Amino acid sequence: MKILVTGGTGYIGSHTVVELQKKGFDVIIVDALFNSRIEVLDSIEKITGIRPEFESFDLANQSLTDDFFARHNDIKGIIHFAAHKAVGESVEQPIKYYRNNLDSLMNILEAMDKYKVPNLVFSSSCTVYGQPDAEHLPVSETAPIKKAESPYGNTKQIAEEIIFESINAYKGLNAIALRYFNPVGAHDSALIGELPLGVPNNLMPYITQTGYGIRECLKVFGGDYPTHDGTAIRDYIHIMDLAKAHVVAVERMVNEKMKKSFEIFNLGTGTGYSVLDVIKSFEKVSGVKLNYEIVGRRAGDIEKVWADPTFSNNELGWKAERHLDEMTLSAWNWEKAYRSN
Ligand code: NAD
Ligand code: WQD
Repeated sequence: MKILVTGGTGYIGSHTVVELQKKGFDVIIVDALFNSRIEVLDSIEKITGIRPEFESFDLANQSLTDDFFARHNDIKGIIHFAAHKAVGESVEQPIKYYRNNLDSLMNILEAMDKYKVPNLVFSSSCTVYGQPDAEHLPVSETAPIKKAESPYGNTKQIAEEIIFESINAYKGLNAIALRYFNPVGAHDSALIGELPLGVPNNLMPYITQTGYGIRECLKVFGGDYPTHDGTAIRDYIHIMDLAKAHVVAVERMVNEKMKKSFEIFNLGTGTGYSVLDVIKSFEKVSGVKLNYEIVGRRAGDIEKVWADPTFSNNELGWKAERHLDEMTLSAWNWEKAYRSN
């Protein structure tokens, strides 16, 4: 059974391709290589022994997208990862984000209707919840959607609405939106992992790059939050747990186990860790003393959020299994392997 993975050479996409192949799915990747490298295909092949089919074009281009689906009539499902994801850049260049993230989704939905591709898994984000009120922590799928903090976050909210409306309008379409919390870590082989271009925005790559000596000092944003140690709390989830959830979602769709035609699931562990907890875990597993300093809060940051994964655990039969130390260790192993090549 063939699955199209858009953004499949990217961070989450590449790990998901490996899991799909392990489960016997044929994978075709479309990625314009805006934020990933073609060599990822070699790494996937090294891990699984199978080189996925690959095409490189911009899914925000309607005629190229239509042409792709016209040429591939054997696709049974799509996992749509392709999007720009830098929150800060989206504030500076909002139209770039709305165009890329929404045009690509709309082109895919139109093609799904025209070429009768029934199943879509969409990458959403916990960013849709903003800072949940105290009574909504841990945050479940039914918590209120807050006004987005950034154009990037808004593209995820609007995308979920576009999918919902398209499912209602086009007969035979099903979709699952997966709201990721904070994906971190790498494949156990250390052949694929997160590859931020330039200075990382996210915590884990900043930690491993500082540990490796590429960055001088990690700035911990905010030491005065109302948390156990004053630093902000997130629900970090191992990339391989996240990848497996996508396979479960695809199987649920193709095996016609969905309870309604548009379902939404949180992908988190249910446990929140502070920035200092992550640093301590990194120091423990790596044996490296991290150079860090606590500075002021980062504008737009949320103080604490973690998932209520009950619905996904019960409905999908999926549960995140890997602990924080496995996340920091795999991220560290990937950093070392990547830098030594
Ligand atoms: P990534 O940047 O590593 O991968 C995205 C891939 O999509 C890249 O390889 C990029 O080249 C490709 N791409 C982007 N626009 C494209 C287009 N128009 N046509 C073809 N290819 C295109 O990002 P990631 O971390 O793997 O994220 C995957 C998805 O998950 C994104 O939709 C992102 O918004 C979402 N998400 C990520 C996180 C996270 O923390 N990484 C959290 C929540 C949600
Ligand atoms: C985690 C914690 C920072 C860097 C972002 C997006 C969100 C989602 C996941 C896509 C925070 C602190 C970080 C640093 C630090 N992505 N930090 N020093 O902000 O939770 O979420 O990625 O959908 O939409 O906003 O992730 O990794 O940037 O930060 O102290 O150099 O680490 O303040 O508390 P965040 P993050």
